[in-house]
Amino acid sequence: MRTIKVSADRNYEIQVGCDWKAALHTVISSHERLLIIAPSFVVERFHLRELISVNVHLFETPEGEEQKSIDIWRQALSSAGSLNLTRSDAVVAIGGGATTDLAGFVAASWLRGISWYAIPTTLAGAVDASIGGKTGINSEFGKNLIGSFYSPAGVFIDLTFLDSLPDRDFSAGLAEVIKTGFIGDLTILDLLEQCTDVKDARLHATELIFKSAEFKASIVSQDFTESKLREILNYGHTLGHAIEKRENYALRHGEAVALGLIFAAELSVQHLGLAPSVVNHTISLLQRFDLPTSYPASALKDLLELMKGDKKNRGSHLRFVGISAPSTPGWMESVTPDDIHVAYERIAQ
Ligand code: GLY
Repeated sequence: MRTIKVSADRNYEIQVGCDWKAALHTVISSHERLLIIAPSFVVERFHLRELISVNVHLFETPEGEEQKSIDIWRQALSSAGSLNLTRSDAVVAIGGGATTDLAGFVAASWLRGISWYAIPTTLAGAVDASIGGKTGINSEFGKNLIGSFYSPAGVFIDLTFLDSLPDRDFSAGLAEVIKTGFIGDLTILDLLEQCTDVKDARLHATELIFKSAEFKASIVSQDFTESKLREILNYGHTLGHAIEKRENYALRHGEAVALGLIFAAELSVQHLGLAPSVVNHTISLLQRFDLPTSYPASALKDLLELMKGDKKNRGSHLRFVGISAPSTPGWMESVTPDDIHVAYERIAQ
């Protein structure tokens, strides 16, 4: 097992390669009561009902983004209320990124904040969502618009969860890994270049997770509340979130981000002098790992409207994160609708 330290609103460790049950027992012994929040299919698959006791309670959620609704958040808080959870109790999220987002926000909201822990069961959760304390739910106006920065007290990544993760979800997680390679860690790109396909990438999961988590931890430790630097983690996400919303969350987050990465790279060619070969490199890596690289041309009007709700915007200006070279992120502050049309051509079908 390897550990990564994060220093933000609280200091905590990410354990990569731990045994999640052993980690959970340690958590149980340091709190009076726990509320585990997990989607029903995770409860079934990993036999979570066996954990229930007088001190350990379970709140089951729907799958995916469906759990990040005001209604589910309210129900989870009712559960915390009926259990009379106090500040010596804790929430534990067991699931993918949507579950850690929701559970973290439940913990942040109850009694103005009780401890929470993340046990990610997906690649996307392990490399991105469970780390960094962005917690929240979706609003009818867009993704993650309601939430708070609220760090977990610990993140426990057990690689055995990946054994039962479908290839489609593994690929979706790789989109965040590819993003991390392009914004900050060239060794990730080198490692991905050595993988021929998704199955091959699975063999390198430990290293890919460790490198991605380590990079994210260092950024979050420097700019926890995203005053600027942390925005680089949103490379590819402005268009990605708009596509997710337009699809009513039927696409995996990573699939939408894959399209956003190509778009952001193309925009970076226009605004930051990125070499066009890097856009080709992005596309070839995404294709290698079965991620989408095209989206309907007719969607652009909707997407432009949806991107206006992005949290990085200031006033009426659309702002994007880009790169001027692999591992050199930059900001594109004055992007016009015309620039967006040109960049979108690269994925339009
Ligand atoms: N997923 C981007 C961030 O945590 O900042």
